[in-house]
Amino acid sequence: MTNAARSEAPAAYPAAMDPDDHVCLCFHVSLRKIANFVAREKPTVASQISECLGAGTGCQWCVPFLKKLHQLHLDGKPMDLPVSPEEYASRRSRYRKTGDRDGAATE
Ligand code: FES
Repeated sequence: MTNAARSEAPAAYPAAMDPDDHVCLCFHVSLRKIANFVAREKPTVASQISECLGAGTGCQWCVPFLKKLHQLHLDGKPMDLPVSPEEYASRRSRYRKTGDRDGAATE
């Protein structure tokens, strides 16, 4: 979904990340890279995703999201995060300033 299409989506449909949106903003690791890594390497624990370009090893904002993606993989579900990249980045910015995840729901 393009950013334009995303912004035009009905409010009833939560915004979601596109495959090329970054999950790990510190190391610019996209959802697609993580999904490909997980499909290829089949990590048994979420922390192994750090082997994908260092995802999760910077500010650690993305760690709960990486865990969520890993669980989706284990459950055989498509990898997606129900948050727009703009909201995700905004929450991370707040997290870096305050250390508060602000209820950074990953569900
Ligand atoms: S956003 Fe992934 S470690 Fe900072």
